[in-house]
Amino acid sequence: MVKICCIGAGYVGGPTMAVIAFKCPNIEVVVVDISVPRIDAWNSDHLPIYEPGLDDVVKKCRGKNLFFSTDVEKHVCEADIVFVSVNTPTKTQGLGAGKAADLTYWESAARMIADVSKSDKIVVEKSTVPVKTAEAIEKILMHNSKGINFQILSNPEFLAEGTAIEDLFKPDRVLIGGRETPEGAKAVEALKNVYAHWVPVEQIICTNLWSAELSKLAANAFLAQRISSVNAMSALCEATGADVTQVSYAVGKDTRIGPKFLNASVGFGGSCFQKDILNLVYICECNGLPEVANYWKQVIKINDYQKNRFVNRVVSSMFNTVSGKKIAVLGFAFKKDTGDTRETPAIDVCKGLLGDKAKIDIYDPQVSKDQIQRDLTMKKFDWDHPMHLQPSSPTSMNKVNVVLDAYEAAKDAHGICILTEWDEFKALDYKKIYGNMQKPAFLFDGRNVIDADKMREIGFIVYAIGKPLDQWLKDMPAVA
Ligand SMILES: NC(=O)c1ccc[n+]([C@@H]2O[C@H](COP(=O)([O-])OP(=O)(O)OC[C@H]3O[C@@H](n4cnc5c(N)ncnc54)[C@H](O)[C@@H]3O)[C@@H](O)[C@H]2O)c1
Repeated sequence: MVKICCIGAGYVGGPTMAVIAFKCPNIEVVVVDISVPRIDAWNSDHLPIYEPGLDDVVKKCRGKNLFFSTDVEKHVCEADIVFVSVNTPTKTQGLGAGKAADLTYWESAARMIADVSKSDKIVVEKSTVPVKTAEAIEKILMHNSKGINFQILSNPEFLAEGTAIEDLFKPDRVLIGGRETPEGAKAVEALKNVYAHWVPVEQIICTNLWSAELSKLAANAFLAQRISSVNAMSALCEATGADVTQVSYAVGKDTRIGPKFLNASVGFGGSCFQKDILNLVYICECNGLPEVANYWKQVIKINDYQKNRFVNRVVSSMFNTVSGKKIAVLGFAFKKDTGDTRETPAIDVCKGLLGDKAKIDIYDPQVSKDQIQRDLTMKKFDWDHPMHLQPSSPTSMNKVNVVLDAYEAAKDAHGICILTEWDEFKALDYKKIYGNMQKPAFLFDGRNVIDADKMREIGFIVYAIGKPLDQWLKDMPAVA
């Protein structure tokens, strides 16, 4: 029986390995992590991450051919294929700070693999890593190999949180990069055989190592660029009276462009987009390509601009101050159907409002109070380290309340900000909400989920990203 071990039981390691176990009953899969609470949660009825369909897949395989363990060394030693899906945070100190990837966790995983291995192994990069990381990992393994043969493969993950299980069941493509040697080709073939249990072979793309590594960074940069492009358009729509939904529909109908990833919003978030672009920027700079680096940097700048613009709209339309006013924040996760808050635009929006002394009540169906407190007090990039290395007891913030439903959040509030597109926010009783708010009551839709005209009929003053502005907002221009 082929044995797979995955180091890192996070958003990527957990779901990808669960699906491999589900689709390949003849393969034993063990997911290991240094975090005891994480592994305990994977072995419990309350999995550490929320993903539609994940519970089902885990329950069907756990204890049969899918296991979660903290005994990292034992399972690495026994495995034929070792996936590495550990954190790759952005460096906060030293060379490349603020841009380059910190490969500390990767390097320690690689050294441990070399230490404990007694048989040949295929080591698979699942984490998103800078181009040429495989080469560095290869060097660590080879210099410590004691005669064992290691083959390094790059197999970046393209799943999207919120639809991870769907994406893993039916990936657009699986990408495998390997050395162009007979041994490298053999390793690529072995991994291909795993995916071929359920992915049509023509959708399994095999490339050299560097192309696979760069393709992952490039794919995320292209996706984020689409969002920044439509968000840039949304500012112009507001200035001119065009409607960004109509513009993106018209643009997306062009088959060369396509309709996906063209929704204007308060900004993109998630653990990958910003980090991967910063990484790309750093690689460009290191390779003497400042023009290319600046081109990609602009994608992040527009995202920051969009978040600031939203806060400025809120403050300026409420008579240029939110000091002492209660604002209800609906949604904190970076998108719907996930509890993930890494780099969520809600953090910057809340911090912006708190900076203007607002009182905030936050409701999100999947994000805990503890997580929100952590996010609002943590330093930039600190989130991307293993749990036990993050600040343990978050300082509670006296101007922030985390509540259990949207109605409670909005009670006596002056304004509502919708920051995640959860379906339930479309179906709220906004008449009831309006009745319990201070007047004038403001509704700022950062995800274009509500019917703005209906809300105006109820009595709200509405701001929706990229939509024609209410007279009120035109009279209260947002100046940065
Ligand atoms: N989240 C996504 O949607 C996504 C998608 C594609 C790629 N990625 C990439 O995949 C990688 C992992 O992302 P994630 O979202 O799963 O991160 P995560 O923080 O959820 O999980 C990483 C896990 O690795 C563990 N870990 C760190 N060092 C370890 C070690 N030496 N031994 C054992 N365990 C260790 C941590 O405790 C943590 O549980 C990152 O490089 C990320 O950029 C993420």
